[in-house]
Amino acid sequence: MENKEIKTVGIAGAGTMGAGIAMVCAQANFKVVLFDINPIVLESAQKSNLTILNKMLETSRIDQNVYNSCLENIIYSSKISELKADLIIEAIIEKADIKISLFQQLIDLNGEETIYATNTSSIPITQIAAGLSLPQNVVGIHFFNPAHIMKLVEVIKGAKTDQNVVNQSVNFVQAIKKQAVIAADAPGFIVNRIARLYYVESLKALEENVSDFQTIDGIMESSGFKMGPFKLMDLIGVDTNYSVTESQFRLFNYEARFRPSRIQKQKVEAGLHGRKTKGGFYNYE
Ligand SMILES: NC(=O)c1ccc[n+]([C@@H]2O[C@H](COP(=O)([O-])OP(=O)(O)OC[C@H]3O[C@@H](n4cnc5c(N)ncnc54)[C@H](O)[C@@H]3O)[C@@H](O)[C@H]2O)c1
Repeated sequence: MENKEIKTVGIAGAGTMGAGIAMVCAQANFKVVLFDINPIVLESAQKSNLTILNKMLETSRIDQNVYNSCLENIIYSSKISELKADLIIEAIIEKADIKISLFQQLIDLNGEETIYATNTSSIPITQIAAGLSLPQNVVGIHFFNPAHIMKLVEVIKGAKTDQNVVNQSVNFVQAIKKQAVIAADAPGFIVNRIARLYYVESLKALEENVSDFQTIDGIMESSGFKMGPFKLMDLIGVDTNYSVTESQFRLFNYEARFRPSRIQKQKVEAGLHGRKTKGGFYNYE
């Protein structure tokens, strides 16, 4: 793929990650289209971005010009036909078949001049790319939560990803003032491979009645972790966190250390997905 200046960014999925990624791109002066199939999610993404921007302005972390351009630079849309851009970052649910089907629609709409990035936490980039007509244009650009705060972004090259696509992705990550780290297309990449055990082991301790979740959170926080594992799962989304564990368990050939938790599965089935549903391990009503 030829080097092409990235001016427009399309983001698919306006949930926990997509909304924040859109704001970060808008702040760096990219024109952004944020797309979601659910108009209610789009509305709450817009509200939450406004709240964050107001706070940033009040605390002088951004000035009035940046504030204005952030508001002007993002279009919120539920029409896939509007998702046309030089770079598309997909941040929809963690299901390979759904991601692949969306990417193929976006490829048909945007063609070979666009970079197709996935924010997946656990699905191999090579697997997503293999189901698509332009595997060389597919790359992993993996942000961390909350996207407007966390500096690190993993950039992942699939088996067929064009090196130019990787280079342009790294340049883009730097342009939005994040720290790019190249990770191999291995299960969980770097961070999730290691962090998975933080959640899985804490859930095992809960299942085995070693302690209650509030105590486990308190102990981990007082020993230096910024957030206890249960608070963190609520922030991430209990459903997303569970899907990532399931996927990583499979990719590690069912090693017991990554076994998904029954308690977490129950939360998912009950619709207790954390902050986004106003209840997970904790209550946010
Ligand atoms: N939550 C985290 O902490 C985190 C961190 C890093 C990466 N990720 C990854 O980011 C992706 C998104 O996670 P999330 O937590 O933001 O999920 P989320 O559940 O908060 O949001 C997903 C959004 O995708 C939308 N969606 C579903 N199917 C769609 C489609 N076909 N087209 C357009 N929109 C569609 C849903 O309406 C929903 O709003 C996942 O791949 C996840 O693994 C999540």
